[in-house]
Amino acid sequence: AIDVKNLLSGASMTTLDPGFGNTASCRSEITYIDGAAGILRYRGYPIQELAKHSSFLEVAYLVIRGELPSPGDLKEFGEQLSANAGIPAEMSALLDALPRNGHPMTLLAAAVNTLAAYYADSVDPKDDQQVETATIRLLAKLPTIAAHIYRRSVGEEPIAPDPSLDYVGNLLHMLFGDGSGDSELDALYAKALDLLLLLHADHELNCSTATVRVVGSSDADIYGSVSAGINALFGPLHGGANQAVLEMLEEIRDLGGDIDSFLAKVKDKESKTRLMGFGHRVYKNFDPRSREIKGLAADILARQEEPDELFALALELEGKALADSYFTDRKLYPNVDFYSGVIYRAMGFPTNMFTVLFALGRLPGWIAHWREQRKDPATRIARPRQLYTGPTERSYPGQG
Ligand code: ACO
Repeated sequence: AIDVKNLLSGASMTTLDPGFGNTASCRSEITYIDGAAGILRYRGYPIQELAKHSSFLEVAYLVIRGELPSPGDLKEFGEQLSANAGIPAEMSALLDALPRNGHPMTLLAAAVNTLAAYYADSVDPKDDQQVETATIRLLAKLPTIAAHIYRRSVGEEPIAPDPSLDYVGNLLHMLFGDGSGDSELDALYAKALDLLLLLHADHELNCSTATVRVVGSSDADIYGSVSAGINALFGPLHGGANQAVLEMLEEIRDLGGDIDSFLAKVKDKESKTRLMGFGHRVYKNFDPRSREIKGLAADILARQEEPDELFALALELEGKALADSYFTDRKLYPNVDFYSGVIYRAMGFPTNMFTVLFALGRLPGWIAHWREQRKDPATRIARPRQLYTGPTERSYPGQG
């Protein structure tokens, strides 16, 4: 239980709510979550239905605009994104000058921040047309920037966007060029990446989306707000968990696959070790996204020539944790990131790109919340209160 203290300071009441676990800071029509029942809906549509029938691009449109697109709307949306996928030569040179061994999330956040400088004609949060332009630019250019960063990090030349491809097809093309040579496998990877992006598209006021709203509440531009969201997502307790899960599985493997000892370490609070990919602030029963992803992981890994030892380890680890009262008593279940890293690894992504893929998926949610907040007459600058616990007034040394 969260330790909530109500205290009276002067005439107003302040609530101490660490991590804002009980505080709603806005009204929102975008995403509905019932954590106890494991329900997630975007704009009213259950995530399972969207996962079955929609593409990431349709869901991005839905999350941002509130309705599923008609075929004509979707075509126009895709064409707008293709037409805007390029980045200026100066930005390309800037990306080339950034440290190649820097974490791609750090580089992505820096690059997205500079979009406000390259596109100063779309930074006014009060101008509807500028916001529309910035929305398209962000969705169109983030994959190009991310792919450029990835290609440089592995010592390869960046690949220009291909307007003849769809959103995810183009992303894979910019990342990996011509693909594996096995068209069936490439199609499966495209489907998998599309689904992973879709499942991450929004999740109401998670840490990064709350950050985007906080920054945007000062009327900061959307590029800077999204850049702040990327930095929030980078933390291992949030989006960085998908990378941390893989590192944890590798650690267990390198220690001879001894899951029992690892779980004993997790349960020892002194060790400050968490079971990464487990637990969620809101889901206290199961995370519906994790079920979709587990099935996808099984499909992808069935196509590998060798059985994947980390996937096998993850399955065993999940089984043992779910049979352990430490985890069940605290309602800790696998979250969206427990299996996503295993899939990304099978697709050939280096570990440090996992959270970048999460950022590409979460982008529609960040944009939708920033836009919703801007139109909400109840919006005020985000300015939480604090409970001061420092010394009361002291005499300056030597002054009596
Ligand atoms: N492993 C071990 N113990 C855990 C874990 C975990 N992954 N998560 C929570 N606990 C324990 C805590 O130690 C605490 O135990 P206590 O009551 O004995 O002190 C209890 O469960 C409650 O934990 P809180 O930290 O209060 O839970 P909170 O809601 O603040 O944190 C969070 C949620 C950050 C997701 C947490 O579960 C965690 O750190 N998980 C691992 C990181 C992770 O997978 N993050 C991805 C989240 S999903 C996403 O961002 C897309």
